[in-house]
Amino acid sequence: MPSPDLCTEAEITVMVHAFYADVRRDPMLGPIFNEHVQDWDHHLAKLVDFWSSALRGTGRFSGTPMPKHAALPGLTPELFQRWLALFRETTAALPNRAMGEQAHMLAQRIARSLWYGYQLNRNPDAVPGDLARG
Ligand code: HEM
Repeated sequence: MPSPDLCTEAEITVMVHAFYADVRRDPMLGPIFNEHVQDWDHHLAKLVDFWSSALRGTGRFSGTPMPKHAALPGLTPELFQRWLALFRETTAALPNRAMGEQAHMLAQRIARSLWYGYQLNRNPDAVPGDLARG
């Protein structure tokens, strides 16, 4: 359950900035993000809002993650697994363990649903595959 008691806004900002710094340096994910994200300040602010809504229940995020990801060409289960592995590293390093665990669990669920939706969008006639548990 999201709760403002789980963590502070400052902790969310630290988590999001640390994660995307790693993503941008990553050989698999970096090129995709660097190609599609023009304004990193805007992207980071959006993701802070997203995690603030997801973890603290602030309701601040207004976005459309499914169509945004469906529009990215060439996403694969390996890329989603890589995203999750990096996010797990970030969340494992957080001193606030309750926050780290909640964030990781939510990310796994959202990654699976994004991958599912991605396949339905891009390849509607095929049976969508599941994302292996990471
Ligand atoms: C292969 C894995 C992923 C890749 C390559 C990826 C890439 C991207 C890119 C390039 C954008 C910017 C799109 C744009 O502004 O047009 C974006 C937005 C976003 N991503 Fe991902 N992403 C991945 C997985 C995830 C996961 C697992 C989550 C959540 C746990 C997530 C959450 C978001 C959110 C909230 C946005 C902002 C959506 C919006 O502006 O409405 N992404 N992603």
